[in-house]
Amino acid sequence: MSSLNPFEPSDLFVTQNINLDPFTENFPLFFYLEYLIFHPNYFFKSSETSNYTDYNTHQRVSGYIMGKVEGSQEYHSHISAVTIDKMYRRVKISSNVLLDCFKKISDHISKVKFIDLFVKCDNLLALSLYEKIGYKVFRRVVGYYDVNGPQNLKRPNDDALDAFDMRISLERDNGESLKNGGKNSRCLAENIVFT
Ligand SMILES: CC(C)(COP(=O)(O)OP(=O)(O)OC[C@H]1O[C@@H](n2cnc3c(N)ncnc32)[C@H](O)[C@@H]1OP(=O)(O)O)[C@@H](O)C(=O)NCCC(=O)NCCS
Repeated sequence: MSSLNPFEPSDLFVTQNINLDPFTENFPLFFYLEYLIFHPNYFFKSSETSNYTDYNTHQRVSGYIMGKVEGSQEYHSHISAVTIDKMYRRVKISSNVLLDCFKKISDHISKVKFIDLFVKCDNLLALSLYEKIGYKVFRRVVGYYDVNGPQNLKRPNDDALDAFDMRISLERDNGESLKNGGKNSRCLAENIVFT
């Protein structure tokens, strides 16, 4: 059974194997520390007990989620990364443990209107996970993952470079922050501003 605990700075040294996954967001060290300092409620890990011997047990990090709260009129929480160790996938750790807890904190403690996140358009597993638990595509962000500079809205969709901005509406919002047909609504990252 998974246990949930706050992420600690030293966990950065035992999660490198998880971070090697090509779909896992990797950030500079200061970025993780900034989240730990300013948004500690939104940075936590799941751990599993592994038995080395009959007498020796050890807690192993199976995944983590990091996020923050932002916006004022559009007060919401944002998931910056969620990832699960390959050994522990498909047993609902992300959906029933990490994302569920993130939602409860967002809904009942911060009382934000919605949660949002960006997912690569070709990350079909993650897309199906989010859709299964109620997230809806709000818009396609053209070139969000393109490192080659400014983007042009006229270029065709490219699933490897574009992101879906997905949202789930919470109690305080009652669906107002969602829209239909989000997959066909395109924008550039620079146009994403929260009031
Ligand atoms: C995406 C990821 C977080 C899913 O974590 P997980 O704990 O294995 O997912 P869950 O067990 O909670 O799965 C929930 C649902 O997601 C979908 N899903 C997850 N893994 C899947 C797989 N390998 N094949 C097909 N569907 C899958 C299914 O709909 C699944 O429900 P089901 O098992 O009832 O069919 C994990 O694969 C991962 O860490 N990927 C790399 C990092 C990443 O892509 N993060 C998201 C970036 S936005």
